[in-house]
Amino acid sequence: MSTTSRRRRRHRWSLQARLITAVVSFVSVILITVGLGTGTVLESILRENLDAKVTGVQDSIALDYNHRADQILEASPRPERGTLLVVNNLAGPTAAYVDAEGGVRTLDTRNIQISAQDGNDWADATVAGLGDYRLRIGPYSSIFGLPTSEVTSVSARIVTTVALLTTGGLLVLAAVIALLIRSALAPLRSVASTASRVAAQPLAEGAVTITERVPDEDTDTHTEVGQVGHALNTLLDHVETSLAARQRNEERMRAFVADASHELRTPLASIRGYSELSLRGIRHAEASGNTAAGVVADTTRESLERIQAQSLRMTALVEDLLLLARLDEGTELVYSAVDLTRLAVEAVSDARVAGTDHEWVLEVPDEPVIVAGDAGRLHQVAANLLANARVHTPAGTRVTTTVASEDGDAVLRIHDDGPGIDPTVVGDLFERFSRADSSRARQTGGTGLGLSIVKAIVEGHGGRIAVASEPGSTTFEVRMPARPDSPAQ
Ligand SMILES: Nc1ncnc2c1ncn2[C@@H]1O[C@H](COP(=O)(O)OP(=O)(O)OP(=O)(O)O)[C@@H](O)[C@H]1O
Ligand SMILES: [Mg+2]
Repeated sequence: MSTTSRRRRRHRWSLQARLITAVVSFVSVILITVGLGTGTVLESILRENLDAKVTGVQDSIALDYNHRADQILEASPRPERGTLLVVNNLAGPTAAYVDAEGGVRTLDTRNIQISAQDGNDWADATVAGLGDYRLRIGPYSSIFGLPTSEVTSVSARIVTTVALLTTGGLLVLAAVIALLIRSALAPLRSVASTASRVAAQPLAEGAVTITERVPDEDTDTHTEVGQVGHALNTLLDHVETSLAARQRNEERMRAFVADASHELRTPLASIRGYSELSLRGIRHAEASGNTAAGVVADTTRESLERIQAQSLRMTALVEDLLLLARLDEGTELVYSAVDLTRLAVEAVSDARVAGTDHEWVLEVPDEPVIVAGDAGRLHQVAANLLANARVHTPAGTRVTTTVASEDGDAVLRIHDDGPGIDPTVVGDLFERFSRADSSRARQTGGTGLGLSIVKAIVEGHGGRIAVASEPGSTTFEVRMPARPDSPAQ
């Protein structure tokens, strides 16, 4: 996967996350707008109320030219708590206010800081030690005021309440959407899990039946998600039918190869027999000095010898094909307890006789290494691998055969220090009719079925075969469960 697509994938959100984010942000924009609008309107209403109260304060206080602000306030009937009065008369500029208990207190006029003034009548101010005030300017620079603290605290309460309700509402909304989506998408999850369970099945090999289906309740074609489930089930039906057809074809093919090879054995035996017989006749005539037959013999004998050699090769090929077809059917192996150590000793002795130019080394443990298997076929595995090490390497190559018990596996390793196998074909080595070097293979008369037979036998025993090859070192390793619980029949 490239870095860009990985980055893109990381940013892709689930449908649930996207829907929740979209709905919650949309609704929160609406709620915040409504909250802000309501707050602004309420605050302006509260300010208007305050202004009306300040006007009321002005109306209720009777000014005179001789008294100080505090004296005037004392004389007023029931002045509002917080009321601020500044007068500028014969007594000089004086200021006073009504405290929280209703008592009148004097104030230095320098404590009043006007911060904003609208028109000539109204102003906002800060009074040191008392807070923010709304002021009305009356005749002769007199000032009447009330604190804005009530307006501020009411607005703050409204803002807090709206914010809390909005947040709570959004959380509930997100939870409800999540639940809705979860239940709406549940069938999709069941579709996905069905699909991945099917994908985990080994569809490529053998007889496969796909039993997995999306449950009926998730395939309601009235919903979009149900249609997906329904479509997947239809697809799985089709896949199952095609797999069954493929399996039938394969079995028919195998049966055909097995039958054909079987049928070819008899005519091949005849060809071999007759060429043998004719050759024997010619040799006999030659030996008895029949000159006429001797003239015929030069060309005919050569042809007959070729026929015999080729029919022998073909017999071997047909036997290999038959064996492979039967191994594929799984009907070939006959199980018993087989000692790999003994088997290796015998196979290497045979190889030593056949390949006198090679050096044969055997490394086996003292105790037997027992596997449950088909003795004849396992011998064929060792013989094929040893024959390869003999045929495909030059004279003088050292071939080491090792038998060992490793991690509960019985291991047979055949190593040679020959030229190695071309790395480009190592991957296909166990395929049928694969030959790394066709010219050499033809020279050595191999068919290219040897290793595929070895692999089929080993896998028929529940084992594995691996090859590691480089110039100067080629190792074939066969690993089989030492005591398989239930040998494949
Ligand atoms: N030990 C080895 N060293 C080098 N090459 C090898 C060795 N074993 C196998 N090969 C290569 O792998 C090819 C496939 O081997 P395989 O046994 O399947 O076929 P074959 O030996 O050519 O024919 P057959 O075994 O059917 O008579 C061989 O042709 C050979 O090129
Ligand atoms: Mg071979």
